[in-house]
Amino acid sequence: MPTVLVLNSGIPGDGSVSRRLVAETVETLREQNPAVRVIDRDLGAEPLPHLSPASVAALRGGAAETTEQAEALALSDALVAELKAADTIVIGAPMYNFGIPSTLKAWFDQVLRAGIAFSYSEAGPKGLLTGKRAIVIETRGGLYSEGPAKVMDSQEPHLRGMLGFAGITDVTFVRAERLAFGDEAKQNAIAAARDDIRDFAEVSALAA
Ligand SMILES: Cc1cc2nc3c(=O)[nH]c(=O)nc-3n(C[C@H](O)[C@H](O)[C@H](O)COP(=O)(O)O)c2cc1C
Repeated sequence: MPTVLVLNSGIPGDGSVSRRLVAETVETLREQNPAVRVIDRDLGAEPLPHLSPASVAALRGGAAETTEQAEALALSDALVAELKAADTIVIGAPMYNFGIPSTLKAWFDQVLRAGIAFSYSEAGPKGLLTGKRAIVIETRGGLYSEGPAKVMDSQEPHLRGMLGFAGITDVTFVRAERLAFGDEAKQNAIAAARDDIRDFAEVSALAA
């Protein structure tokens, strides 16, 4: 069954643009295939724990010697299972302080495990989670896709890098930028992002 993993990482609330656009993206995917299974992991509403000595020991070693380590390993294993089950990952990623929310970074810290998401050899790193596609909804108060603030964008390159490191290279970024530039700019940005979602859906439906 086609499976979509949905990761929202922004602060919950009706005003969240990324949450609205993520919901619309999932709706579009459902229209394309009503049988799609959706796994919802709301990282903003229920943040994952940061790494700790116990979780690093368990995750890097792949085994647990204490109850704390066993709990940490079980959580990471559950998150990895959700990711492995997914053909498509929809990520809602607001820009916070030029990068991604720490809630989303905490998820990557839990799933980017050696031997599971990537491996190393003499040839260098190799992503192991191939054959998946990701759709990333990026919301930003400012403008970073062009202009003087472009060099400040630590959100999109970071996400592309982490996904690519795991072998997820089919990534579509949908940007809603200039959200803090007044109401007109905000509405235009949301409308443009909606067009991008529609265009992307049409292209992927044709390719399917
Ligand atoms: C804690 C915090 C930090 C932010 N940092 C930035 C930033 O560095 N650059 C920027 O353009 N917008 C920044 N913003 C604005 C958000 O990116 C913008 O409001 C976006 O719409 C939030 O996503 P959401 O609507 O999906 O919740 C920040 C917002 C918050 C709450």
